[in-house]
Amino acid sequence: MLAIGSDHGGINLKKIIKEYLEKCGFEVKDFGTYDTNSCDYPDIAKTVCDAVSSGECEKGILVCGTGIGMSIAANKVNGIRAAHVTDTYSARMAKEHNNANIICLGERITGCDLAVEIVKSYVEADFGGDRHQRRIDKIMALEK
Ligand code: RB5
Repeated sequence: MLAIGSDHGGINLKKIIKEYLEKCGFEVKDFGTYDTNSCDYPDIAKTVCDAVSSGECEKGILVCGTGIGMSIAANKVNGIRAAHVTDTYSARMAKEHNNANIICLGERITGCDLAVEIVKSYVEADFGGDRHQRRIDKIMALEK
């Protein structure tokens, strides 16, 4: 199960990513926003991050205008490693090296087709473990 959420600035790209993931056979839980009225991205980031950190969803995708606000907010939530990604290599590495459980994209930055390729790279990647786990343990220790 994947969690997805956006503010008003990311709602169109969220829809495209959701449709792509469902077409691939993923179950996707949409945490809003559901219309184009202005809303605050930290509220959406929190609901998606809570679903991921609780284990309800395995990973999450957050979209805002730039991807920046969502990533800043998401990384404040315990248990979350959110990567702001604008290219496919970084999206793959975010999983392989950083075991990112959230990726953040910007609808006003990244074109739809590239965004879908980015999501594909992320969901198809596997965590490398080993030395990367040691480094992630050190990241997570920073929460304490
Ligand atoms: C909303 O206008 C915009 O600030 C938001 O979508 C995002 O880009 C923030 O980082």
